[in-house]
Amino acid sequence: MRMKRKPWADELYEQNQNFYKKFPYDIKGNWHNFFGNDKPIELEIGSGKGGFITQLAKIHPEKNFIALEINEMALAYLLRKQFELKLPNLFLIIGDAKEVDQYFEKQEINNIYLNFSDPWPKSRHEKRRLTSPGFLDRYQKILNKNGKLTFKTDNQSLFIYSIKTIANKSEAIIDKLTFDLHNSEFVKENVETEYEIKFSKKGAPIYMLEAHFKKGDKDE
Ligand SMILES: C[S@@+](CC[C@H](N)C(=O)[O-])C[C@H]1O[C@@H](n2cnc3c(N)ncnc32)[C@H](O)[C@@H]1O
Repeated sequence: MRMKRKPWADELYEQNQNFYKKFPYDIKGNWHNFFGNDKPIELEIGSGKGGFITQLAKIHPEKNFIALEINEMALAYLLRKQFELKLPNLFLIIGDAKEVDQYFEKQEINNIYLNFSDPWPKSRHEKRRLTSPGFLDRYQKILNKNGKLTFKTDNQSLFIYSIKTIANKSEAIIDKLTFDLHNSEFVKENVETEYEIKFSKKGAPIYMLEAHFKKGDKDE
C-alpha cells in the first residue's frame, strides 16, 4: 500500500501520542500493566486503516487490542478513528512484524490476526511474506497456550503457501479452514476489513484459516 504522508497526519501524530507508540521495545513483558488490566491481548499485524480492529475493540470490551502497522500513513487513518472513538482497549504500534518478538514477551498475546497481508509473489521475496516460517516462529513465541493465529486473504497462492508453511511446522495445528469464508459456517463471527469489503464486492472468494501452536515444556 503506497501512501504519501499528508500534513494532517503529522499534526495528528504530534497531538495524540497517548494512543500509539513507535517501536515499543520498553513495553515488552509489561503490556497488561500498560493497559491497566489482565484482559487478554489480541494483535492485528498489518492493520492498514484499522476498520477491523476498531470493530473488534468495540464489540469486545472484555479484551485488549493492539494494531501493528509499518506504514505510518496507513496507521494515521486508524489514529484518526481512535481520536474520535477513544476506545480504552485499543492501542496502536508503528513497527515491523519482523520485530514482533522484541515488542512482546513469550506468551504475552492471545490471538494474532493477519488480514490481507501483502502477497510478495516472487520467490526471492518469500521471507517477507507474513506467513513464512521465520514469522511463524515469532508468532509461536509470543502466543500463549490458548493462542490462535487467524489469517484471511483473497490471494489463493498466498493462502496455499500459508497452509503449507503452517502444516510444515510440527507444533502447528490448523483448526479452521475455508476457501469461501463468506459462504461458510464461520461467516457469522467474521468482522470484515477494508480490503475484504473491496475484494468481496468484486466477487472474489475470501480464504480463511485459524491455527494454534502446541506448547511444550520448554515454552513455559
Ligand atoms: C494489503 S494491506 C491490508 C490492510 C488491512 N489489514 C485490510 O485487510 O484492509 C497490508 C498491510 O500490511 C502492512 N504491512 C506489510 N508488511 C508489514 C510488516 N512487516 N509489519 C507491519 N505491517 C506490515 C502494510 O503496510 C499494509 O498496510
